[in-house]
Amino acid sequence: MIFNKREELKYKSIKGTKDILPDESHIWIEVENRIRKVMHTYNYKEIRTPIFEETKLFARGIGEFTDIVGKEMYTFTDRGGDSLTLKPEVTASVIRAYIQHNLGEKQPLTKVYYISPAFRQERPQAGRLRQFHQFGAEAIGSKNPAVDAEIISLAANIYESFGIRDFVIKINSVGCEICRNEYKNILKKFLIDISNKLSPESQKRIDVNPMRVLDSKDENDRIATKSAPLILNYLCNDCKTHFAQLQDLLSFMNVTFEVDGRIVRGLDYYTKTAFEIISTELGSQDALAGGGRYDLLVKELGGKDTPAVGFAAGLERLLMVLQKQNQDKFQAPRPKVFIAYADKSCEKIILNLAQKLRAKGVPCEIDLLNRSLKSQMREADRQNSDFVIVVGENEVKSNRLNIKNMKTGKVEEIDLGNLENYFLSSNG
Ligand code: HAM
Repeated sequence: MIFNKREELKYKSIKGTKDILPDESHIWIEVENRIRKVMHTYNYKEIRTPIFEETKLFARGIGEFTDIVGKEMYTFTDRGGDSLTLKPEVTASVIRAYIQHNLGEKQPLTKVYYISPAFRQERPQAGRLRQFHQFGAEAIGSKNPAVDAEIISLAANIYESFGIRDFVIKINSVGCEICRNEYKNILKKFLIDISNKLSPESQKRIDVNPMRVLDSKDENDRIATKSAPLILNYLCNDCKTHFAQLQDLLSFMNVTFEVDGRIVRGLDYYTKTAFEIISTELGSQDALAGGGRYDLLVKELGGKDTPAVGFAAGLERLLMVLQKQNQDKFQAPRPKVFIAYADKSCEKIILNLAQKLRAKGVPCEIDLLNRSLKSQMREADRQNSDFVIVVGENEVKSNRLNIKNMKTGKVEEIDLGNLENYFLSSNG
């Protein structure tokens, strides 16, 4: 392809993707580290899975008729003719890895967490991207409602660890294969009767995914389905008991929640518990996190019959709330020492001094742009370095250095050979 105009060479990031620039990357690093810390307090270990997988894994795991699989996946055929997909979520990949590496044999309850990019071709808007990041956790190997309670409290604790309290935890039970199928037929009948009042999108869903009509954001759909039958009234005894035990445990753990019979989730793998954490700080994309139990997925993907529960949360949405609450002001990395030269002939010496300090782990900066001493000092200020040293002919001759503490203004004179020790001792 030949470009004639310069403009045509101006590449831009793809719609719905974002660069994380040098002046904000430290916020991501700090937030990710804090998430890891909370995950570790619950004894979850990090798992990292590849960015792409076989398309079949997601189609089978998430469900052929979901929006994600039907219209949002980034799917491509590689040069070998295989259909691959950039991961639209992480749970299916984690379960694939769990089965492939027999993780269940090593640890009967496998507890893992992740912080990972995910890709969905949705309409971009505030809080909705095409490449976004999820943090989440999966506990694989137990039916016990105490694990559901642990997962919900873990998710809530992460927000609380950032001082975020303006969120609501909504829980529901979406039943199991037996009670859900029976309920779906009852719901379908109800929806067919009122179908002329529903949006075209919801009308299409009646046959393939009737429960999704209940969480439609369309106002008319909401009014029309106000008296729709809810699954909570149709749960089998096993699902009913599990849900009651979960509520009991959450109350006992002082986790505040609301029961909302309309939480149905956009992925097909859920059984029993489904939950969402909704922010009261965000606009239309107000779901901070979502998750639930998926007791059939491991078997569905070729493993042994193994129950599991987990959650995932949008990292960008957490950052949006932190920014709104002015709680994203973390310390950026900066040089501890700025070594300036008064004379170009001292360049080699400052390169050598910087080398020595860096070898001892002291972050330092020097001028690499041949700037005047005045603009080097301005740069040291701009970089917010704690100390400034100026090296000139006098310093070289006398073998002595002046170290200026930029906060206190105090100047100390030391032997040039003592520089590293100065910053390794309490002074630095
Ligand atoms: P999900 O509800 O599809 O669940 O996504 C979880 C969270 O990811 C959402 O609540 C939202 O915060 C964030 N998110 C989703 N799509 C976008 C987007 N386009 N842009 C920005 N953020 C987004 C899952 O992915 C399940 N795997 C959760 C799970 C784990 N269930 C069991 N284990």
